[in-house]
Amino acid sequence: MKYIIANWKAHKNLRTTEQWLDDFISYNFAKIKHKTQIIICPPFPFIPLVKERLSHLDFVKIGAQDISSFHGGSYTGEVTIDNLTGLVDYVIIGHSERRRYFSETDAIIFQKYALAEKNHIQPIFCLRDMDDMIAPKARFVAYEPDTAIGTGKNEPLEKITRLKKQLNLNKDTIFIYGGSVDKENASDYLNFDAISGLLVGSASLNAHEFFAILTSVEKNNHQASL
Ligand code: PGA
Repeated sequence: MKYIIANWKAHKNLRTTEQWLDDFISYNFAKIKHKTQIIICPPFPFIPLVKERLSHLDFVKIGAQDISSFHGGSYTGEVTIDNLTGLVDYVIIGHSERRRYFSETDAIIFQKYALAEKNHIQPIFCLRDMDDMIAPKARFVAYEPDTAIGTGKNEPLEKITRLKKQLNLNKDTIFIYGGSVDKENASDYLNFDAISGLLVGSASLNAHEFFAILTSVEKNNHQASL
C-alpha cells in the first residue's frame, strides 16, 4: 500500500476546486484503488465539499493541513481539532512552511501532534532534517527537506534512504517523502519499499498531473525494493 498525499496549501478557490473535482472524478481508478491510499488536504473552507464529492471513493481520505494548538473554544480565527472532528481522518503537523512563516516551534508542533492523536485524527508528522525532533510514536513521518520544497530540486533517493536509516524508525512507521515530486519523478520513489508514499504540493493542484502520479504506483509496484 502506498500513501499519496495532496497538499494544496493555500491555493484554489471555489471554482477551481470544483473544476479539480470534476476532472478527478472522471478518471478510472480500477487499477490503483487496491494499492493506494489517497489523502487530499484542501484549504479548510473546501474540506466539506471535497469530502462530499469524493465520498464514493473509499480509497480517498481527507486531511487538514494544520490545526490549532488549542482544542476548541474562544480563539477567533483558529481551526481546531474540535471543529475538524468528523470531517478529516488525517492532519499534517509541523510542515516547514508553518515553521518558517508562522514561527511554529517544536513545542507547538508537539502540542498539535498530541491533540490530533488524542482525538483520533492521524497526524502526519513532517521533518526537514535530523535536527528536527521527531514525535517518538509518530506512525506517519514525512521527510520534507527545505531545499526540495517548491524548488524543483527533488531529493535523490540515496539521501532519503540514508536519512531514514539515521532516524531509526519503528518497523511499522509509514515513511513518506515530499519535495518537488511530479509525474516524471514519482516512480523513482514509489519503486522502493523503503518509501511508503509521497507528499505532493504543486503537482497535486492539477488533477491530471496528480492522477498521473497515482498511476505510477501501479506501474512500479512489482519492481525491486531497497
Ligand atoms: P512541492 O511541495 O511538491 O510543491 O515541492 C511539497 C510540500 O510542501 O509538501
